[in-house]
Amino acid sequence: MKNYTSINDIDNINTWIGEAIKIKQNRLKNKELGKNKTLGLLFFNSSLRTRLSTQKAALNLGMDPIVMNVSGDAWGIEFGDGTIMDGNTAEHIKEAAAVVSQYCDIIAVRAFPSLTDKKKDESEHVLKSFIEFASVPVVSMESATGHPLQGLTDAITIFENSTKKRPKVVLSWAPHIKALPHAVANSFVQAMQKMDVEFVITNPEGYNLNSKITKKTTIYHNQEEAFKDADFIYTKNWSSYDDYGTILSTDTNWMITREKIENAKFMHCLPVRRNLVVEDAVLDSDSSLVIEQANNRTYAAQLVLKKILENN
Ligand code: CP
Repeated sequence: MKNYTSINDIDNINTWIGEAIKIKQNRLKNKELGKNKTLGLLFFNSSLRTRLSTQKAALNLGMDPIVMNVSGDAWGIEFGDGTIMDGNTAEHIKEAAAVVSQYCDIIAVRAFPSLTDKKKDESEHVLKSFIEFASVPVVSMESATGHPLQGLTDAITIFENSTKKRPKVVLSWAPHIKALPHAVANSFVQAMQKMDVEFVITNPEGYNLNSKITKKTTIYHNQEEAFKDADFIYTKNWSSYDDYGTILSTDTNWMITREKIENAKFMHCLPVRRNLVVEDAVLDSDSSLVIEQANNRTYAAQLVLKKILENN
């Protein structure tokens, strides 16, 4: 594996989960592997977990992480081919990616979608430009359409907390005041499709995710029906995909409550807005796995970096 930019880069999710758990049990075992290697973390958008857990993963492997907030701190980057650069952008991605490659052995990039231009977002122009013009491997720390480090983390967390051979996992939309990307939900769907779980999605009408990602996964528009006998309820807001980037509903009846989840474990990638997406009584209960998920972000990232270091 050269780059890690999608859940589709995982050849066997069960093997990967097993490897991640071994890393978690002895996180400093490969401390020599990344010695004298540098991980560059480039953020076009905000982050708490990804920023810290990916650096922690690099440190556990003996790598030296360097971090840059690209939006604001770097020169404005131009991605257009043949553009006359007489506007706000001062440096072309051709030079920027090549230059970062002089300083880093692996480049990790976070770049969210615009949510205004579906075609451009789906082209993954930022991530793909880094892959094209960097001379070193590239890792997605969340792109326009996917968050594969989070998806891998969530698969690990479900495996660790499952008491059944084939648990029922539900992905539920929840209300939010802002138009949010589809990336986390997309990668979670792709990860669950690779696992041996009973997986269903529930969202209001108009909120179906990209059918090229959901494929044959059952989608309920009735949350109560979907939650029946659930072992894991993974919650996330996303804006409409069909009416791209639009908020069609803020129906508070979709908020996750203690009563709704019954015996299921609650999952969310964080950050989460309390009492809008999910009520306090869920997050503050033993049913919540959100901190375990955040912890597992380190080991998912460490596994990905380890595989890239071993293969390049
Ligand atoms: N879950 C996640 O990616 O968190 P951050 O946006 O804080 O990195």
